Amino acid sequence: MEIKDERAGIIKVNASNKAISEVAGMFFQATVEAKYSYCFDWLERPIIQYPQDIVAFQELVSAVKPNLIIETGIAHGGSLVLSASMLCLLDVMEGLDPRQSPRKVVGVDIDIRPHNRQALDEHPLRFKMELIEGSSIGSETIKKVRSHADGFNRVLVSLDSNHTHEHVLAELNAYADLVSVGSYCIVFDTVVEDLPPGSFPDRPWDVGNNPKTAVHEWLKTHPEFKIDKDIDNKLLISVAPDGYLRRIA
Ligand SMILES: C[S@@+](CC[C@H](N)C(=O)[O-])C[C@H]1O[C@@H](n2cnc3c(N)ncnc32)[C@H](O)[C@@H]1O
Repeated sequence: MEIKDERAGIIKVNASNKAISEVAGMFFQATVEAKYSYCFDWLERPIIQYPQDIVAFQELVSAVKPNLIIETGIAHGGSLVLSASMLCLLDVMEGLDPRQSPRKVVGVDIDIRPHNRQALDEHPLRFKMELIEGSSIGSETIKKVRSHADGFNRVLVSLDSNHTHEHVLAELNAYADLVSVGSYCIVFDTVVEDLPPGSFPDRPWDVGNNPKTAVHEWLKTHPEFKIDKDIDNKLLISVAPDGYLRRIA
């Protein structure tokens, strides 16, 4: 049997394995409290992600082969460097010179702190990045991001900034239409809805007010996107359950 067929069977069985989902839920709850997502780097920049989602991102970029990635939420720049590095690899795999190819990642953050900006400015992959400082839902920022998207036909979007319902809804309305058919809009931290209430006492988001509630509301009027459950079923541990949105039309 081909590994990919075998894998599809394994994922299907695992998805309905109650023991795994129970343990995964417990692992998740304990590791959120332990700030596990703050423990990793990508090419020397801190990336605030779970390793499982990083692998899923790599698989998606490699399958979709975007020429533009738009990201909200830069923080220390790890996810931006991840995108830049994946875009360089796509170029190399296609026989292109990464410095000449138009592929790029556009990152938006309301506050690009000086030490983070300096680290990104000095990063060897800086030539693949555009940085925009401003609120991702501000009209000027939206205009700038959209102007960067002119002429790009394979666009992937990743939303990882302010995780309140209203903010994510506004981001989806601002950027999701840029996603190409067959590509993805990834909405991070949908997992907030699945954690015990009050898990983020110092944040405005909680159960009932988070990226997952925004995704579910937004999808009611956007049938051109569909949650890719295969990704959730495969990862089992992810900050983005119901957050991998595939554009199908
Ligand atoms: C979870 S971190 C991003 C992590 C990053 N994507 C990574 O994987 O390393 C969230 C970031 O969103 C930014 N942010 C918060 N509100 C924002 C807004 N309204 N517009 C843009 N960025 C915002 C914060 O400044 C913070 O740097």
